[in-house]
Amino acid sequence: MNKISITSPATIANLVCGFDILGLALEEPYDIMTLETGDRPGLEIFHLDEHGLPTDPENNVAGAALLAMMEELDSIPSWKLTIDKKIKPGSGLGSSAASAAGAVFAANALLGNCFSKDDLIRFAMFGEKVASGVKHADNITPCLLGGVTLIRSIHPLDIVKLSAPELFITVVHPQIEVRTSDARQILKKDVQLKQAIKQWGNIAGLVAGFMQGDHALIGRSLEDVIIEPVRSILIPGFDEVKQNCIAAGALGGGISGSGPSIFMLSKQKETAAAVETEMKKVYTRLGIAHKTYVTMLNSEGIRTL
Ligand code: HSE
Repeated sequence: MNKISITSPATIANLVCGFDILGLALEEPYDIMTLETGDRPGLEIFHLDEHGLPTDPENNVAGAALLAMMEELDSIPSWKLTIDKKIKPGSGLGSSAASAAGAVFAANALLGNCFSKDDLIRFAMFGEKVASGVKHADNITPCLLGGVTLIRSIHPLDIVKLSAPELFITVVHPQIEVRTSDARQILKKDVQLKQAIKQWGNIAGLVAGFMQGDHALIGRSLEDVIIEPVRSILIPGFDEVKQNCIAAGALGGGISGSGPSIFMLSKQKETAAAVETEMKKVYTRLGIAHKTYVTMLNSEGIRTL
């Protein structure tokens, strides 16, 4: 095989209470990426979109992930990577993870799948480091594995794919940019034991809710007493969107990754559509341009085209 095209999906990291440890993959939006054998040893990157992302491999998230992989190969491959990015950078929908995970998935396919999924997560985290200054796997893992994933540890890597019931997911992306590095810097470094206990209860409840297919438990557990109160100040209309969507029947939701996108989970498709209407109402009234998605849990992750 000397050419592969894939779709690499958007992801929602944190899932409200599980900062840096929980995430899920969405059916939409997704990036389209093609990796093919080039003419000379090394890596060339081309963008088909207008986002103006760097093309030098060291500063490109897909490039950094591929360079990490190349270091473990016996000889330097010739790779030409073309990215059509539909997931807007800085949206909180795992744009950088889609690039990094998509690139290493495609490269592994060209190499005859010599690396394991854990290896791919390890390489892709180098891309996340370029994007946000820290290695985290809560977008990369659901992107590569699909579904809902738990990162019990990144050193050493210990990943669990959770079973989950059918879920509809509504996302609103107010068109403002929140840099993950900024959204991480404003967080408090210390947590009170009282808050930690509440958060542990919610994380355990959410994991149990997914595994038992208990929608009500999922809804009750979508509560974050540590990160959301700090980060939500960066997102205009956040409290109103959340309140109105839950009143419209959503199970619950919150900030997608580091924001500014907000997501809501629903049991029924009709509820997910009603939630979209509420989201649009708030941002139209606030005069903030926005994009919405009504989509589903993507249980496969990256797909070959
Ligand atoms: N867990 C990361 C954060 C995800 O919230 O900073 C960033 O997409």
